Amino acid sequence: MIEQLIADRAGAIDASGIRRIFNLAATLKDPINLSIGQPDFVVPEPIRNAAVQAIQDHKNGYTLTQGDPALLGKVIDWLKVDLGWDCAVTGQGEPGQPTAFVTSGTSGALFLAFLALLNPGDECIIPDPYFVCYPHLATMCGAKAIPCDTYPDFQMTAERVEPLITEKTKFVLLNTPSNPSGVVLGKEECAKLRALCKARGVLLITDEIYDEFVFSESLGDVAAGDGGLGRCPSPGRADGAGEDTLLIRGFGKTYGCTGWRLGYVAGPGVIVDQMAKLQQYTFVCAPSPLQAGVVESFETDMGEHVAEYESRRDMVIERLSKLTNVAVPGGAFYAFIEVPASLGLSGTQFTEKCIERALLVIPGGAFSGRDTHFRISFATDREKLSQGLDILCDLLGSSV
Ligand SMILES: Cc1ncc(COP(=O)(O)O)c(C=O)c1O
Repeated sequence: MIEQLIADRAGAIDASGIRRIFNLAATLKDPINLSIGQPDFVVPEPIRNAAVQAIQDHKNGYTLTQGDPALLGKVIDWLKVDLGWDCAVTGQGEPGQPTAFVTSGTSGALFLAFLALLNPGDECIIPDPYFVCYPHLATMCGAKAIPCDTYPDFQMTAERVEPLITEKTKFVLLNTPSNPSGVVLGKEECAKLRALCKARGVLLITDEIYDEFVFSESLGDVAAGDGGLGRCPSPGRADGAGEDTLLIRGFGKTYGCTGWRLGYVAGPGVIVDQMAKLQQYTFVCAPSPLQAGVVESFETDMGEHVAEYESRRDMVIERLSKLTNVAVPGGAFYAFIEVPASLGLSGTQFTEKCIERALLVIPGGAFSGRDTHFRISFATDREKLSQGLDILCDLLGSSV
């Protein structure tokens, strides 16, 4: 039988809970869709034009594995301004120097990091709730993702991580701002988590795919360079952090081009260089004309969109926090909302009630060992969001 050919690692992985909702969404006529994890604005024109121009200029072949030199150069310059890192191109660093390269999306960078670091039987520590890929990436490596319970405030603090570190732990994976909660880890907590990882000899990986989507009160840090920019706190923004922290960021969410599959990784040269080697034999390189497109992103200000998302966040909190517990999202475009115990429903059961009203949200169980919450995305137009909130208020027990 052909199924017997399938490897255990594929069999060990469940289809994502999010996919199930997307499949359901496809069967509903004009649903109110608060399940989507991508921005609802179009890719800024200069970025689109540069990608189209690259195609017309016949830049359609492979780039170097590490990325288009123009893009990687911009990334390296930005890491200097933002974090104060003196990065080299992967493979070209001095001993101890951080290096960087362009990846096929943030997922590509995460996959390569897991592959480069985890042997079968190893452990890594991930937040719970988590971005859906994290545990499965560990499974694919024959390793185990140990969940760090961050309920109810969704802060992955050193205090919560510390008891989970064992001799099998290779890395701690932080995600700030978080998917699914939008919660941002504060500057001091970032520093404590980095200090803990250093002291215990494990790597800190920081997934900062939403780093540009941070709301006023959470801009607790400034860029290391001259700009004095208010920025998302990062464990990477500290002396020497490039030598012990693996930073992963993406372009897809920030510029509305999730399908372009572009991100980057930077950090300890010895690890990043191993990841680049693995990229050479898997992804080969990130999509080349699209790399030329996002070169323009470094000159593109997304402040207007971030402000819009902040105002939608305020709308969500104002309406829902009267009815249930919601940790205020400091960034990204999600809120992770508790199903009040008085309703006697799991996250999945609550989601089913929403679907009966043509409202799509994602059950907390898709992101967590518990199924007590649900995730909404406010990356949808205000009218739909407001209609969705009306239904949620109704279901959560009031018509506030
Ligand atoms: C926290 C987090 N990390 C990584 C990713 C993957 O992003 P990309 O589309 O760049 O692969 C996502 C996408 O939703 C995410 O939410």
